[in-house]
Amino acid sequence: MERIFFSVGGVDISVLKASEVPVFYIHGSAGDAEIWKNQLGEIGGYAIDLPNHGFSGKAKIRSIDDYAYFVSKLVSRISGSGIIVGHSLGGAVAQKVYLNHRKTAEALVLVGTGARLRVLPKALEGLKENPTETAKFMADMAFHRKEFIEHFGKLFKERAGILLEDLTLCNEFDLLNDFRSGKIKFDVPVIAIVGEHDLLTPPKYSEFFKAFGAEMRVVESAGHMVMIENPKTFNMCLKEFLHSLGKSLE
Ligand code: COA
Repeated sequence: MERIFFSVGGVDISVLKASEVPVFYIHGSAGDAEIWKNQLGEIGGYAIDLPNHGFSGKAKIRSIDDYAYFVSKLVSRISGSGIIVGHSLGGAVAQKVYLNHRKTAEALVLVGTGARLRVLPKALEGLKENPTETAKFMADMAFHRKEFIEHFGKLFKERAGILLEDLTLCNEFDLLNDFRSGKIKFDVPVIAIVGEHDLLTPPKYSEFFKAFGAEMRVVESAGHMVMIENPKTFNMCLKEFLHSLGKSLE
């Protein structure tokens, strides 16, 4: 695994590269490329640090579309197009890559995400007024498996500022009506993968994608952080999907 940097619009974007398989992973709110280590190790591909996250440089981000701009430029620079795997906020970014930069997305893997991502007011208010307690609350909500909560509670606390910025962007993200009116259609293969105990983006949100032609897999013994909580089943779902696209992992 190696860390490489690409300059996009004057911003250094950091990427963890495991292989040249054109699979691009996008983390969620206040995350970074490291959350995909179990996938990079077994499946390969590239995990991106969004601007203002991980080892990437700073950029003014006003909406999910701005993140999608950076991802699309990066994907097109590395391999022309690719399979975009996005978790939570990253799943919103993946949808916007598909909608705004269609040629970049060969297929979408929408992980613990939705076409609308309203956020609990308690989380948005709490991150301003009581970041320590709210960070712990968010970690509690994000994981079904308790052994991860302490570590991520601390991480969310350290990253309370960017967590609030990202959740604010999620709260404004809403494509439900564009799907319902037929304005948005999936013209590429799409799979929605969700933890059965996901409290932040419940399986109902993935069912919505299924109604618009996506495949759907519900992963047992996992909450919102499904690729960390049950990597074995998650990776199997992802590998089957890649196989169905005719993608070799070599
Ligand atoms: N896909 C399909 N349906 C969706 C949806 C999605 N992405 N997002 C919302 N809906 C549905 C809801 O299920 C609800 O349906 P119902 O009326 O049949 O019950 C309806 O649309 C309206 O829901 P919502 O937009 O969420 O508004 P709300 O005022 O009912 O609830 C919250 C607001 C914040 C309490 C709620 O969205 C929630 O609990 N969110 C999850 C927690 C969270 O903070 N997640 C963070 C995501 S990054």
